[in-house]
Amino acid sequence: MTKIAVIVGSTRDGSYNRALARLAAARLAAHGAEVTALDLATLDLPIYSDALEKGAFPPDALALKQLLAAQDGILFVSPEYNGSIPALLKNAIDWASRPTGDEGPVALTAFRGKVAAIMSASVSPFGGLRGLTHLRQILNTIQMVVIPEQVLVPLAHTGFGEDGQLKEPLPASLVDMTAARLVRVAAALAA
Ligand SMILES: Cc1cc2nc3c(=O)[nH]c(=O)nc-3n(C[C@H](O)[C@H](O)[C@H](O)COP(=O)(O)O)c2cc1C
Repeated sequence: MTKIAVIVGSTRDGSYNRALARLAAARLAAHGAEVTALDLATLDLPIYSDALEKGAFPPDALALKQLLAAQDGILFVSPEYNGSIPALLKNAIDWASRPTGDEGPVALTAFRGKVAAIMSASVSPFGGLRGLTHLRQILNTIQMVVIPEQVLVPLAHTGFGEDGQLKEPLPASLVDMTAARLVRVAAALAA
């Protein structure tokens, strides 16, 4: 079964991106993926530092890296902070990108050659587009294949109904389209 992890770049109570990730996870499962939802709030990830890394690689950073390395693909669902991605998410990516054990300096075992998809919900009318543009570039840098489809949910504070579903048909259909492509490409790359 195709394994997909879902990472949310917000730990806020009532996070719109977590709500979006829940919908996306359901669509990934509907398209045949085994989904692992990763909650960064449950991980003890200090800000990356060379001294910490050389002293003792933080156990949760290693656990994150190993979990991601076992996936066929990763869905990133993140808010935009000041035109880019939140430090929370960048820090998690930075730790998971680091070599461990006998790996060479750019082994990138958690990410290299895997497929990614990106989504963002934002309270602004632009839906976190600048953050996703940065995220796409970061994921390319760590040698992920980022699918062309992406999802923006603008005005997220008005975007979800009482039932947790997206009110607008366009982002809702894009969630499904993106999930379908992510599973299909992940399965093909893993074959
Ligand atoms: C530090 C900070 C910076 C933000 N910068 C942006 C921004 O550049 N663009 C944007 O659309 N929203 C920005 N926002 C607002 C977020 O879209 C909003 O807080 C959103 O609810 C965050 O996602 P969440 O609900 O998943 O936590 C910012 C919020 C914070 C806390």
